[in-house]
Amino acid sequence: MNLAQNLFGTVFQNPVLLASGTCGFGEELSDLVDLDALGGFVTKAVTVEPRQGNPAPRVCEFAAGMLNSVGLANPGVDVVRTEKLPWIRSHVRAARVFVNVAGHDVEHYQRVIKTLNEEAGYLGFELNVSCPNDRNLRGIPFALDPVALEEVVSAARGATRRPLLVKLAPNVPDIGEMAHIAEEAGADGVTLINTFPGLILDPSSRSPALGAGSGGVSGPAIRPVGVHAVWAARRRVSIPIVGVGGITNAADAVQYLLAGASLVQVGTASFADPRAALRVIRGLVRYGRAHGVRHVAELVGAAALESREVPGNEILELARRAEG
Ligand SMILES: Cc1cc2nc3c(=O)[nH]c(=O)nc-3n(C[C@H](O)[C@H](O)[C@H](O)COP(=O)(O)O)c2cc1C
Repeated sequence: MNLAQNLFGTVFQNPVLLASGTCGFGEELSDLVDLDALGGFVTKAVTVEPRQGNPAPRVCEFAAGMLNSVGLANPGVDVVRTEKLPWIRSHVRAARVFVNVAGHDVEHYQRVIKTLNEEAGYLGFELNVSCPNDRNLRGIPFALDPVALEEVVSAARGATRRPLLVKLAPNVPDIGEMAHIAEEAGADGVTLINTFPGLILDPSSRSPALGAGSGGVSGPAIRPVGVHAVWAARRRVSIPIVGVGGITNAADAVQYLLAGASLVQVGTASFADPRAALRVIRGLVRYGRAHGVRHVAELVGAAALESREVPGNEILELARRAEG
């Protein structure tokens, strides 16, 4: 199977990227993984100011995944410009890199983008507007509020002509509508899904397992949520979708492709096995051979469920009609 995907004005040699927050800025993983064998990777979130992150423990495993509250720890945009991007520039050739951007308000997003925009070595930005572990000035993530989402995506669009992905959260009434808002505001693609809030309590101490209290849920537990989000968004937008959430092997990645994702990202699985994404790539080739698929694009959106409705959306539609 030919794995190359032509998107955002460039070629991804395969559709598998490492997800933000699980590969640092590339350098951290480069001893263990040949980054240039990947479709690409997304950096840790970059904020204007350096951030220490949240109190330990920051991660806690459970049977079907992980809860984390890292709190967007990063060295700040100036160090990313002077140290992290130069490393990427001189070490990464074939993989396509997105810089993940976060901030407390719209102006922060613009400042990070403008500071990095003229630098070489990466393709585009992924706006993290959906981190459950970060409080912006509005008190809730931008991705949960249609007006705030429109505002931050428009502002980011105004700050760069590079490819702009917008990473959304699944804990909204209608993920398709949020993807549509991002598209209308100028996004070139949407990434679905970020983690969403969860809580693990220690029955002995009666305290949260994480230092910060609650955190974001990731790993296999959220895969059906992510696949559903991609499928729901595919029906509302024409821009490419990047699927992420609980991918541990090629079969998981195929689910996202069938639901409508053009690219996928591997996150939590890399903690258990740093080469998980490379396994996914090899597995996709085997899947193509076994199922007579010549090009990965043939899989995108090819799920056999177009005619079926999502119960949640039917309920929303009824509610809308009732409202008037
Ligand atoms: C420890 C950790 C840190 C993360 N940091 C970020 C981040 O900085 N920015 C972001 O957009 N997503 C971040 N994420 C979310 C992941 O990129 C991904 O959307 C999510 O974990 C779901 O994919 P997975 O189940 O494959 O991990 C983080 C996830 C984890 C587990």
